[in-house]
Amino acid sequence: MKILSAGQIREIDAKTIHYEGISSLELMKHAAGAFYDWFTKKYTDKNDAILILSGVGNNGGDGLMVARLLHKAGYRVQACVVEYSENYTEDCAHNVRRVKAENIPFKRITKEKEIPNFSEYDILIDALFGTGLSREITGIAAEVIKKMNESGKTIVSIDVPGGLFPDKKTTFAVEADETVTFQIPKLALYLPDNYRFVGNVTIVNIGLSEKAIAEASTNRYLIEKKDIRELLKPLSKFAHKGTQGHALIIGGSLGKTGTVCLASKAALKTGCGLVSAYLPKCGTPVIQTHFPEAMAIEDDNSAFITHIDYDISPNAIGIGIGMGKREETQHAFYRFLQKNALPMVIDADGLNILSLHPEWLDLLPPKTILTPHPKELSRLIGEWSDDYEKIEKATAFAQKYRLIVIIKGAYSLIIDSDNLYVNDSGTPALATAGSGDVLTGIIASLLAQGYEPGHAARVGVYLHGLTANLTQQTIHPRSFVASDIIDNIGNAYFTIEN
Ligand code: APR
Repeated sequence: MKILSAGQIREIDAKTIHYEGISSLELMKHAAGAFYDWFTKKYTDKNDAILILSGVGNNGGDGLMVARLLHKAGYRVQACVVEYSENYTEDCAHNVRRVKAENIPFKRITKEKEIPNFSEYDILIDALFGTGLSREITGIAAEVIKKMNESGKTIVSIDVPGGLFPDKKTTFAVEADETVTFQIPKLALYLPDNYRFVGNVTIVNIGLSEKAIAEASTNRYLIEKKDIRELLKPLSKFAHKGTQGHALIIGGSLGKTGTVCLASKAALKTGCGLVSAYLPKCGTPVIQTHFPEAMAIEDDNSAFITHIDYDISPNAIGIGIGMGKREETQHAFYRFLQKNALPMVIDADGLNILSLHPEWLDLLPPKTILTPHPKELSRLIGEWSDDYEKIEKATAFAQKYRLIVIIKGAYSLIIDSDNLYVNDSGTPALATAGSGDVLTGIIASLLAQGYEPGHAARVGVYLHGLTANLTQQTIHPRSFVASDIIDNIGNAYFTIEN
């Protein structure tokens, strides 16, 4: 799904009105109706006192239309316009007249003492500013937002939290619990800096013209299940283990051999035909006992990797997990990079060693996949002042070395040449030991199966997140461990295919 800018969304609204031959008010009706459907499914208690805080733009118009729909359905509604400007849009002004005509409790808020007592309400609906926000918020709107954020009440934002800039850094905005956004994802909704403003994001369809959306150009996308379904390779009737790819997982050190076990198991469960694990000697009994399907290759050293020598012919490699950064291991890694031309995913200590020797980045085959979490990323590209700068620096880095960079997080970001993909599968339960090792195994497996690296990155990240969503249906998120994710890789495939 395309992620678009506020300007592009404005253009799509206008084109929808033109192409579909509808009025702007009808489009607003669709938007308010879509929000209403979502809201009434989630909040079913009609005794809840609902305060709707609208602005004077079209987002405010949406809010007032929602007030009318909720009132008609028997909800207890108080509608307000926070009059931060006298320039009401036509559709907003129309809805103010309708709200009054329908005898819905209504008030104008122009100064601080007119702000209602939020403690008398259960839910605050925020329709203060939408994608038309053009400058920092001041005056009465800022006062209202401050009080909303201090209220401790459930806040639901229409389209975007009031004050959130869809395309640039935000420092002050409504801190919503839920954001119900209209059809087109906005990048700001998925950035970690904005989580406190956005809360949970739901995308609802409001009937924007598909033709208009197709005409908008972008290099930013939100990954959807159907995209992944299209990328999955079919399983041939004549498949045998030799045709399904051989993944080699390299890593581990004394006390951290479990990392390689997890990645190896995840790789095989993701569908490659064979998995070999290269470990220090101490890892062999561990992997052979806990995961007999994997083949083990021992390093000379008992506790950490000192050579990376093997006489097998894998199709792809996952390297770096649990490996440590000892001098000997660094040299072994360097000698390995000098000779390796296979598709590869690098994580953890592999990334940390590369950040100690940035000149080794030139040795990586094009389209090597790096999977840093934010701390590992900062070691590679330096610090950033905000998420936009982070994306800019990571993109420049990825392009310089022709790499694919996956910035892991609640919404992982995949940078592949000029393109940015946002993944929204996954849950906070993934914040558990070993879940990154599982991702390394999944991606190594996909690379071994012959997926183009960009596809392997997207399929892998999506699959990994989805396994967590599924695991959470049967295991409480607090009790969730990385092995549970691996057990659900097959179910994730079922979910994608159906
Ligand atoms: N302070 C005061 N006024 C502002 C500020 C600000 N910081 N920023 C923008 N404005 C003005 C804008 O010029 C606009 O008239 O306030 C209004 C904000 O209105 P929005 O509702 O954000 O923008 P608009 O383009 O009218 O509507 C876009 O409509 O399709 C719906 O909800 C959807 O988000 C979308 C919205």
